[in-house]
Amino acid sequence: MAARTHLADFLRDHLRLTGTHLGCEHGVCGACTVLIDDKPARSCITYAVACDGLAIRTIEGFEDDALMGELRQAFSREHGLQCGFCTAGMLISSRDIVQRLPGVDDRRIRVELSGNLCRCTGYLGIVNAVTSVVEAHRNDAVVAKPASRPAGTPERFAPAGVAEMAAETAAIALPDEAQRQGWTRIEESFVIAAPLPVVWRALADFPKVAACLPGAELTEHDDRSVKGRLKVKLGPMAASFAGSASVQRDDAALTAVVKGAGSDGGSRSRTRGQLTYRLTLEGEGRSRVAVAVEYDLQGPLAQFSRSSLARDFAGRIVAEFAANLNASLGAGAPVATQPAGSLNLGQLIWSLIRSRLARLFGG
Ligand code: FES
Ligand code: FES
Repeated sequence: MAARTHLADFLRDHLRLTGTHLGCEHGVCGACTVLIDDKPARSCITYAVACDGLAIRTIEGFEDDALMGELRQAFSREHGLQCGFCTAGMLISSRDIVQRLPGVDDRRIRVELSGNLCRCTGYLGIVNAVTSVVEAHRNDAVVAKPASRPAGTPERFAPAGVAEMAAETAAIALPDEAQRQGWTRIEESFVIAAPLPVVWRALADFPKVAACLPGAELTEHDDRSVKGRLKVKLGPMAASFAGSASVQRDDAALTAVVKGAGSDGGSRSRTRGQLTYRLTLEGEGRSRVAVAVEYDLQGPLAQFSRSSLARDFAGRIVAEFAANLNASLGAGAPVATQPAGSLNLGQLIWSLIRSRLARLFGG
């Protein structure tokens, strides 16, 4: 098996577990959803080798599962499927919803299922099916299962306003390096056509930095802390992460550490992480900015952080930030590949696919 084999291909082609379907193959439709260590994940954007030692459960693994049996019956009764292509992924996500969110209402079920697309049913039968099983278990403490979370994190991230997020961030001490195994780590660097002191000053100008970062909005700041939002859109899923961060800058070493956390109330996704950047001389009047980001993303959107695409996104975002910063310092034209006000990952995916195809065919 090649190292780049995705989990979905491994399951289907090597293990012949063809209940896991492939639709879009880039993390949008949810047809390939399986459980990885008891959490729903997209097997089309997960490398099989990355699952070494983890527990994978496909739709075939639920044959004797009582709750899944109820959901299967409810999907049939409520006409929650037609062609059935989306159904394996729908059932696995639905079971997670029933377990994780006892008493959840229709609106929230739709939000929770927004990462699973169905081209046939119009969703009403699916939502009715899940609702009927939720109702059947309304007072059933056995089904209720708290969302799994890494040790040391708070019980629950409230869908908080910015002020609450600040308190939440203060309460979160990022775990030390040994405990950050499994976090996504991305390193990038870019060059700004301006001298080191100019770039160092610009990076302390938080409104300027936010204006250069696609999807970012600054709501409050002082010299050492920022609060704001980051809007992200991926196909039908949209998230607006509210968060805050502390910034420590070392003027002598031209190095800064930014620690922060944020959450999106709509999708119940939350993230925390650390960004470090360091400036070095790149040549006369030019500065290189080396950036290292480590983050942990939990919740439905976490499925999009486990692939090489996440690194490609980061590369694109950093490139846009660098171009915008260069432009703001009078060293080039800004780029405008993102619609104003949000970071459109779907658009980035298509642009990445186009550029990969162009490379492949020499276009
Ligand atoms: S096949 Fe569409 S998300 Fe994996
Ligand atoms: S039942 Fe056909 S795609 Fe959902």
